[in-house]
Amino acid sequence: MKTADSNKGKASLALTVVIVEDNATMRLGMEETLRREGHRVLAFSNGPDALARLEREPADIVITDLKMEPLDGLEVLARVKKRWPDCEVILISAYGTVETAVKAMQLGAADFLTKPFSPEELRVRVNKVRQHLQQQQQLRQLADENRLLQDELGAPYREMIGASPAMQEIFRLIERVAREDSTVLIEGESGTGKELVARAIHRRSPRREQPFIRVNCGALNDNLLESELFGHEKGAFTGAIRRKRGRFELADGGTLFLDEIGDVSPTMQVKLLRVLQEQEFERVGGEETIRVNVRIIAATNRNLAELIARGEFREDLYYRLSVIPIKLPPLRERREDIPLLVNHFLERLSRERNRHRPEISSEGMELLQSYTWPGNIRELENVLERLLVISPDKEIAPQLIARQLGGRVNLTDDYRHLPLEEALQAFEKNLLLHALKEAGGVKNRAAKLLGIRTSTLYYKLEKYGLLK
Ligand SMILES: Nc1ncnc2c1ncn2[C@@H]1O[C@H](COP(=O)(O)OP(=O)(O)OP(=O)(O)O)[C@@H](O)[C@H]1O
Ligand SMILES: [Mg+2]
Repeated sequence: MKTADSNKGKASLALTVVIVEDNATMRLGMEETLRREGHRVLAFSNGPDALARLEREPADIVITDLKMEPLDGLEVLARVKKRWPDCEVILISAYGTVETAVKAMQLGAADFLTKPFSPEELRVRVNKVRQHLQQQQQLRQLADENRLLQDELGAPYREMIGASPAMQEIFRLIERVAREDSTVLIEGESGTGKELVARAIHRRSPRREQPFIRVNCGALNDNLLESELFGHEKGAFTGAIRRKRGRFELADGGTLFLDEIGDVSPTMQVKLLRVLQEQEFERVGGEETIRVNVRIIAATNRNLAELIARGEFREDLYYRLSVIPIKLPPLRERREDIPLLVNHFLERLSRERNRHRPEISSEGMELLQSYTWPGNIRELENVLERLLVISPDKEIAPQLIARQLGGRVNLTDDYRHLPLEEALQAFEKNLLLHALKEAGGVKNRAAKLLGIRTSTLYYKLEKYGLLK
């Protein structure tokens, strides 16, 4: 069995070649020659038929005669290059005039063949184009992969902060699991730091010099996800114009982070289960079995136990993934970390903006600590960033903080830090949000709950910038 590495750079040799030639004898001759070379050949007697076929199925090379009706070769060439810039075109002509040749090259033709030519000559020319195509493909593939790896390398390292017993325990766990190759499942609400934990594990592991590759499983449909994960062979589906290595292959030797694993469909769950069990797979449209050595870390903000109970997540996959489970607590359950985090973010955000780090009074800190933070640390980071932008002062006023949290505090929270008018507005905004939530987002129902007309609700939502 081959490892992913030994497959690097190999490109398939057979091409799809479209021939456009109105002379039947010529057409058959060329078809025969190229077929014997192992290419897939589609031959047409006129331009429009060939172009219609190309719409359905892209080709690598188009070989077209010059003098034809209703479209001549130059027109075919121009249309092909406009619509499929990567497709190479060879022009054939009985009249090798310099002007036509120049025009053809200007339009992007790869080569120009003068009739009559021998089968050998045709083979040589097509081979030359094929070599060029292969080089291009390899360069593009490398560029794609490089970009992905560079993105990961370029991601700034972010320190994890937390003094609460819960976070201290998680830090210890990270150190321990980093040394092993076991699969880790990180569960936690949105914004609790799941990705940060995954990166921290990789960074402390013996695989740290190898790639860390992330896949957002929730953002892609099955077909895209499958080809992202496992790669595909050229021609595996419409649009698969070249072989692509999947993220499992790119992560070979390193860590693959399967983010939003709870959103993966049952079909893809089966496919993932197999790779996790066997550490091997095939590219989409490929037959060769590829083996990789990848450490898997998965994360989700959904409750997998619930999904399993509802039959939406496979229990066997869950057990495969959660060899080592890490549960990140929401921020509201470790409020003692809030001042630390606030200081940390203010420090970093001010440094990034090249400005003096502002202070927060104990009153302001109290407000930040009493808020429920449904968006957890990410929300805290965003709120501080906004505060930094809107407050040029040495100290961020508690009123500003209250206003930032305004629409989002619990109804039970008080508004004593605000002037009356603003407190009333924050309170009203809050009521609107609660009613909307209770009404499941249906505005008619929310208006009824509030005892106001739907049009009034719309007006108010608009006023507070709550209309999407
Ligand atoms: N303990 C922490 N200390 C400092 N910063 C943190 C900590 N946890 C999270 N962050 C920061 O909070 C933000 C959100 O973290 P991350 O993206 O890891 O969360 P997540 O759980 O993956 O969120 P989501 O479910 O929305 O994808 C990031 O900017 C991250 O750097
Ligand atoms: Mg995340």
